[in-house]
Amino acid sequence: MEFRSEDQAWLSQLVLDELGIVVGDGKGSLLQARLLPVIRQFELSGPAELMSLLRAKGRPEVRRAVLDAMTTNETSFFRDPRSFDSLREQVLPQLLEARRDERALTIWVAASSSGQEAYSLAMLLHEVVPDLSAWRVRIVATDISSAMLERTRDGVYSQYEVNRGMPAPLLVQHFERRGAKWAVKEDLRRMVEVREYNLVHPTTTAPRADLVLLRNVLIYFDLPTRHRILDRARTALRPDGFLVVSRTESLLEGRDLFEPAFGGSGGIFSPLRSSRAGRLAS
Ligand SMILES: C[S@@+](CC[C@H](N)C(=O)[O-])C[C@H]1O[C@@H](n2cnc3c(N)ncnc32)[C@H](O)[C@@H]1O
Repeated sequence: MEFRSEDQAWLSQLVLDELGIVVGDGKGSLLQARLLPVIRQFELSGPAELMSLLRAKGRPEVRRAVLDAMTTNETSFFRDPRSFDSLREQVLPQLLEARRDERALTIWVAASSSGQEAYSLAMLLHEVVPDLSAWRVRIVATDISSAMLERTRDGVYSQYEVNRGMPAPLLVQHFERRGAKWAVKEDLRRMVEVREYNLVHPTTTAPRADLVLLRNVLIYFDLPTRHRILDRARTALRPDGFLVVSRTESLLEGRDLFEPAFGGSGGIFSPLRSSRAGRLAS
């Protein structure tokens, strides 16, 4: 039940072409671990049958499941709490003041995985906006993985998932029991709009946003791809909006597009007005 080395090379190229994700050499065991469940799911006889289906472009649902399986979906509620502290204390107060007259806010959570990041933001907005019902708030959660988008739409999480990062009072306030699981309450779910969006090969325009979260995803792409993604994020952002990346990312590859905001800590960046965009793109 092993993939031949030429199959591994072919699969790596497929993942690079479709997702922009660099699998790298010597990742046979990764491919094996991710794709054996797909073989089982579709009751195929083994890697050879999977490969011939993929090469013949038969059964699009199998191809889709293969690409889904190659994404890394690690996430949690309030992941990296210091990012959420910066949002609470610096970013949101500034944006709410700037949008005080129009009372509308659009947040794009790009690469939202199973939805914890988008729902964490919705909970944070409940906390920091006293008259939230008077605002038009859209949190647009996008991802490439249809399985993850489905999970975000469902908004149902296991006990293990809610234990990771969620303060108990928020669980009680915003979730209700569904058997052994927890479901997001309707008012929170209504704030989150779920859409497919491929960061590398977009087929639709990105939402015009006041805030873009692009956390823990750039690492999977090579430098020119990262630059193209950052360029699109800048185009999507309103000029006084903010980009949030993971706190460990320096964003050096986007220094012609963004500058650090709020003193440079917290992974928060402002779009540069007079961009020298294109210098790093290739
Ligand atoms: C590690 S998760 C990060 C989730 C969340 N942003 C966080 O910080 O917890 C990376 C997500 O990026 C998504 N992804 C990978 N390649 C993508 C692409 N080309 N376009 C859109 N999303 C992609 C994966 O499906 C996955 O859900």
